[in-house]
Amino acid sequence: MFTYALDDHVELRPLVPEHARALFELTDRSRDRLRQWLPWVDSVTEVDHSANYIKGAMKQAADNGGFSAGIWVREELTGTISFHEIDWHNRSVGIGYWLDKQFQGQGLMTSACRALTDHALMRMGLNRVEIRCATTNRRSRAIPERLGFVLEGIIREAEKLPQGFVNHAVYGMIQSEWKRMR
Ligand SMILES: CC(C)(COP(=O)(O)OP(=O)(O)OC[C@H]1O[C@@H](n2cnc3c(N)ncnc32)[C@H](O)[C@@H]1OP(=O)(O)O)[C@@H](O)C(=O)NCCC(=O)NCCS
Repeated sequence: MFTYALDDHVELRPLVPEHARALFELTDRSRDRLRQWLPWVDSVTEVDHSANYIKGAMKQAADNGGFSAGIWVREELTGTISFHEIDWHNRSVGIGYWLDKQFQGQGLMTSACRALTDHALMRMGLNRVEIRCATTNRRSRAIPERLGFVLEGIIREAEKLPQGFVNHAVYGMIQSEWKRMR
């Protein structure tokens, strides 16, 4: 499974059951801010819910369908980044992510997304990586934009969040473009 050192202090590690408590505590601490963008947050109210999420992610990885990694900074869990279910026929995958507020503004998620995109397109033989964000989620949109993804379109009222239906901006990166940009 994918483990990746982003630098001397930052590492992406696949989530395993031992991470459940740290993941729950991080989610709990961040929930007021995350709720605005991540509809699943309110359904995570105890450690078991995080444990179940990890179990699902491990099964997905075992089935070669993607995986979910924690972003660890000096042994502290700061957020997660995941491949959504891989579409092997079309060799395409989506990426999702979130980060503790205290660790924002340092380029951590941009660097994690760069690593996963590179892994998908250069090692796993996938052809397309997609990132979808609410059009109003400025910080999230800035990540694919920084990495050179192409804004391919807007999907109207694609997701229901606490503030109501939001439009999605769809960003894509194709293997041939990534090879040229690396
Ligand atoms: C989306 C989210 C992960 C973005 O976090 P972020 O800290 O803005 O993203 P990064 O870690 O890539 O950091 C980028 C910031 O670090 C700065 N930075 C510093 N060093 C940097 C470097 N080497 N490379 C890139 N950016 C760097 C950038 O300028 C930027 O800060 P700015 O927006 O104030 O200009 C975070 O806001 C979040 O978790 N939001 C809630 C959940 C969510 O929305 N998830 C996505 C749903 S689609």
